[in-house]
Amino acid sequence: MTSAPSRLTGDKGTFVREMFARIAPRYDLANRVLTGGLDERWRRRAIRLLAAPKGGRLLDCCCGTGDLVFGLLRNDPTLDVTGIDFCAPMLQRAQHRAEQAHRKATFVEGDVMAMPFEDDAFDGATMGFSLRNVVDVDATLREVLRVLRPGARFVSLDVTKAPNRTYKRLFDLYFYRIVPLLGGIVGGSRAAYAYLPNSLTHHPNAPDLRDRFARAGFTGAGYVPLMGGAIAVHYGTKGSEG
Ligand SMILES: C[S@@+](CC[C@H](N)C(=O)[O-])C[C@H]1O[C@@H](n2cnc3c(N)ncnc32)[C@H](O)[C@@H]1O
Repeated sequence: MTSAPSRLTGDKGTFVREMFARIAPRYDLANRVLTGGLDERWRRRAIRLLAAPKGGRLLDCCCGTGDLVFGLLRNDPTLDVTGIDFCAPMLQRAQHRAEQAHRKATFVEGDVMAMPFEDDAFDGATMGFSLRNVVDVDATLREVLRVLRPGARFVSLDVTKAPNRTYKRLFDLYFYRIVPLLGGIVGGSRAAYAYLPNSLTHHPNAPDLRDRFARAGFTGAGYVPLMGGAIAVHYGTKGSEG
């Protein structure tokens, strides 16, 4: 595992990093319980949308314990996958999982708003359940765009605001009330699992986020709603103008 200094991380960044450090030991279990195992299905959908080229060099931004990294490698073992995250305990779990599963992946400790990679370095990039957590969404999107080669795609899977009001009410009840309770029991920190839903409150809704992908410079920006629009996979491509 290599590490790069975090330059742009402000107070929110420090708070988020420390929070994930606290829940890292039980993060995977909590994820499976809180989504009823559906997160694996959503991840597969995101990976299909990425349509990575065989043998390509891929980046998973905010990789955490590596779910998307391992999903990408299961889907196509010829890929060369790097995961970046600024929380060392999450990365240590990712590294441990890679060793246990005999999977070859590179893990880098660093901030996705200032990544230690050259321009045009990757043939595709993913992000799972993380864009809500970064300090500056637009700066992050521009930074992801920078490290992609022209023609490469970025997909971001995350929770979003469901457009249907009745459904949204039900989802909010689960997300804002049940998740902190269950997260406290399974994940070991009620405070952390109370923060996670709140991170959605100030996050743009799905159409607005699509427009921000476009404003950051992604071409063909769009999104696929899942679970009645409570989950979305946003995508965009780096144009040949870069
Ligand atoms: C909810 S977890 C998601 C982990 C993983 N992508 C998944 O799908 O399970 C969010 C992750 O984003 C990371 N993170 C948040 N802001 C970051 C930043 N600016 N740079 C790097 N990692 C960041 C956290 O450390 C945490 O591991």
